[in-house]
Amino acid sequence: MSSRDYWERNIKGFSGFYDTGSEETLRGSWLFRAFYRTFLLPVEKAYMRKRYAMVRSFIDSNSEGGTAADIGCGSGIFSIIMAERQARVYALDFAKSAVELTRENIPANLTERITVDQLDILNDSIPRVDTAIAIGVLPYVADEATFIDHIAPNCDRILFNFLDADNLLNRLRKFMVQLDARGYCYHSKDKIAAQLGHHGFDIEKEEALATGWMITARRQPLKETGLYGK
Ligand SMILES: C[S@@+](CC[C@H](N)C(=O)[O-])C[C@H]1O[C@@H](n2cnc3c(N)ncnc32)[C@H](O)[C@@H]1O
Repeated sequence: MSSRDYWERNIKGFSGFYDTGSEETLRGSWLFRAFYRTFLLPVEKAYMRKRYAMVRSFIDSNSEGGTAADIGCGSGIFSIIMAERQARVYALDFAKSAVELTRENIPANLTERITVDQLDILNDSIPRVDTAIAIGVLPYVADEATFIDHIAPNCDRILFNFLDADNLLNRLRKFMVQLDARGYCYHSKDKIAAQLGHHGFDIEKEEALATGWMITARRQPLKETGLYGK
């Protein structure tokens, strides 16, 4: 099943993570799925709470007004929070079901402030915005260079997370695909930092999150003007 098909079927179930628990249809044998549901989903739910707190804290300090893009918006949860902070938001997702779910979830008083569009970040660039977030997206995207190339030139700060290719558990999951319930992609922090650097961004903050990292990156004005290093 392709990543897009997976999310077409599962974004509503995944959104349950923010409520009672995920209702996604996981990959693997019934025994593995039962094990995962009983022992690993509660752990994931705890990490989701931590992730949610990190994103809220970023939004609280960065999106007062201005423009924002929420790449892989899912249920629209973070688009709505950014719009509540007065931002003008583009909620973008490659899954039609996520686009529809986001439209359903936007409260009537915020519809003017949120534009919802179908967009595959591997095919198209985001519109020009001040702030871009992509939460839980890179774990499903193999090509981090194209992901960054389609975001960084059109914004000044970015928040996103990824799964660390060097993490022991991730190394294990990569080779024992039966341990991987969602078909994850893993990335090297060095490659991500280099690609961000190529667009004049520095990593401002990196916070450990489960087997990966939450990254805040910001465009460095000196690099943008070409004076950097002269
Ligand atoms: C784990 S969910 C996260 C949803 C939301 N950002 C959140 O944190 O609740 C991943 C989302 O990324 C979307 N996605 C995955 N690959 C994508 C791509 N190449 N372009 C755009 N959206 C993508 C999926 O459709 C799904 O809605």
